[in-house]
Amino acid sequence: MPTNIAKPISFSSKCIKAAWLSNVKDYNIKEKSIVVNLGLDKAWITSTPETYLLPFSSSILKDVSIIKADSVFLITVHDQNNIGAIILDDHWHHLGELIKFPRDIPLWRSPQHELGIVEFDPYVVTGMSDENNPCRLKQYQVKVNLWYAPAQTSAAIHNKHADPDFLEVHTQIYGHGRMQKFHTKDSNTLYEDLLLSPGQTHRPMANIDIDQKFVYPWHQYYADENCIWMAIEFHLAS
Ligand SMILES: [Fe+2]
Repeated sequence: MPTNIAKPISFSSKCIKAAWLSNVKDYNIKEKSIVVNLGLDKAWITSTPETYLLPFSSSILKDVSIIKADSVFLITVHDQNNIGAIILDDHWHHLGELIKFPRDIPLWRSPQHELGIVEFDPYVVTGMSDENNPCRLKQYQVKVNLWYAPAQTSAAIHNKHADPDFLEVHTQIYGHGRMQKFHTKDSNTLYEDLLLSPGQTHRPMANIDIDQKFVYPWHQYYADENCIWMAIEFHLAS
């Protein structure tokens, strides 16, 4: 089977380059890159001593090799000059042009890119179980897109995205932001702030309900600074 299969991503731009690598073996990372492990096993990295990226986690790496990994996503920020102009790239939209969404919340979305199918036990990925159970394995289509919001944006509190809902995590690319959780759809009921610096991915926020569907707390993204972040969504495929 061929190794280091690299697929370019539709939202790559002048400022941000993105690629998806599968069946990774001895892959050298020369440029400072955000590396997200989308596989189900640790992604081993050359260093002294050897280290690894856990599944669904990320880091900023340079001058190391990924010894072995199923699937990783690489993002490099090439040019920060006028980086906010990324929303003028083809197929970016204010969210209000795509769905019913307040026009006065400055939130823009890139085109969404389908990466491929992965298989996992949703109980393990959400932290509700520590051991994989082959009977619970399900296939998911992985979709990724970028988001942009300027400083001090509250990007709208919600607890559903689709029916059935998908699993989402976010990787911070540029600027400092946070994922916030609330007891109700009211910003005064904030109970958790997950701070996100560039290169960080938050843990999945969803649990599984009795119908085996993903359920979410009330949550929103908040941009402390001008921010670009990546959504990684896992949609049930079968
Ligand atoms: Fe969400």
